[in-house]
Amino acid sequence: TRPFSLAVVPGDGIGPEVTAQALRVLDVLAPQHGVTFERTEYDLGARRWHATGETLPDAVLEEIRQHDAILLGAVGDPSVPSGVLERGLLLKLRFELDHYVNLRPSKLFTGVPTPLAAPGDIDFVVVREGTEGPYVGNGGAIRVGTPQEVATEVSLNTAFGVERVVRDAFARAQARPRRKLTLVHKNNVLVHAGHLWSRTVETVAAEYPEVTVDYLHVDAATIFLATDPARFDVIVTDNLFGDILTDLAAAITGGIGLAASGNVNPDRTAPSMFEPVHGSAPDIAGQSKADPTAAILSAGLLLDHLGLPEAAAQITEAVEADIAERSGARSTEEVGEAIASRVAGEVSTVA
Ligand code: NAD
Ligand code: IPM
Ligand code: MN
Repeated sequence: TRPFSLAVVPGDGIGPEVTAQALRVLDVLAPQHGVTFERTEYDLGARRWHATGETLPDAVLEEIRQHDAILLGAVGDPSVPSGVLERGLLLKLRFELDHYVNLRPSKLFTGVPTPLAAPGDIDFVVVREGTEGPYVGNGGAIRVGTPQEVATEVSLNTAFGVERVVRDAFARAQARPRRKLTLVHKNNVLVHAGHLWSRTVETVAAEYPEVTVDYLHVDAATIFLATDPARFDVIVTDNLFGDILTDLAAAITGGIGLAASGNVNPDRTAPSMFEPVHGSAPDIAGQSKADPTAAILSAGLLLDHLGLPEAAAQITEAVEADIAERSGARSTEEVGEAIASRVAGEVSTVA
């Protein structure tokens, strides 16, 4: 058996609820594939912050760094000032572990309710830059709380950072059947960053003659996500636009409860981190109402990353089958149980 070490950060709200179901599915798969997942669970998030004032101590970060991959639930809690955990824990992990490719696939599974009347064949992936943009904390405020307050939040875009994520997106587009790449930005207004992104795409495109390249301003991209999402194959975009577009992408493909993501370090200089796109959902936390499917699909992306594509495919198939037969409200545990049973081969799909 091949041992893999996983750092598990369940986090806040529904994070621990959905993570438990993802781990349950991984436990079913492990013996089938001759692997083990040795887990270290990290108590990080609101509870720890209230108890100690810590978000992610450097010593804990260094421990997490020693693992093969990270599985994260969600962070953020109404009892903690907004931004403390999001920046101090989640973004710190993404930045410190150089997760420059934030991979967010969207596929409309058969039988999934979508708000779109004519969805078409939705199957695209957003390659969201993960370490730069307006997320870097390059800003400040003066005269806070006065009528003269001034606040800035400056977006950081480096040639190095843009080129590496654009190259990754082109490689992904080249490997997909439709070979199409859409850059989404706002280069008609954000001319400095926008032109860097556009120029970089143009330059790298020369190395990928088989990839069709397209550009959309982010506002227009939201139109097409709602009216013609089947036109997209690979979308490459900056950190903030990617955040917003992927909640919309989730909404058109069955909802936020199904949307998975990987924070990938393609150079493998540090472990990659897999987590649902959704947050800690304080409005439903503790009620077993959260759909764990996004967390389970994220575990599938983790398996792919660890070189276990057959195991990953089992998760996708089990989720597709489960979705096709969904009816009525089920608890978090019931959904996890149903998917785990399918992965175990205990449930045969009704033809
Ligand atoms: P959210 O994604 O937590 O919730 C938005 C809506 O979606 C809520 O109505 C929620 O009940 C619903 N929802 C989310 N996940 C669901 C699931 N698995 N099943 C069913 N319904 C689900 O976003 P928000 O309300 O904007 O943020 C809440 C907190 O989570 C904030 O503190 C925010 O900063 C944080 N957050 C964290 C992450 C992360 O850890 N990656 C992502 C987004 C938001
Ligand atoms: C996400 C979240 C995070 C982001 C927040 C919580 C920092 O919304 O993972 O989509 O903006 O990246
Ligand atoms: Mn988000």
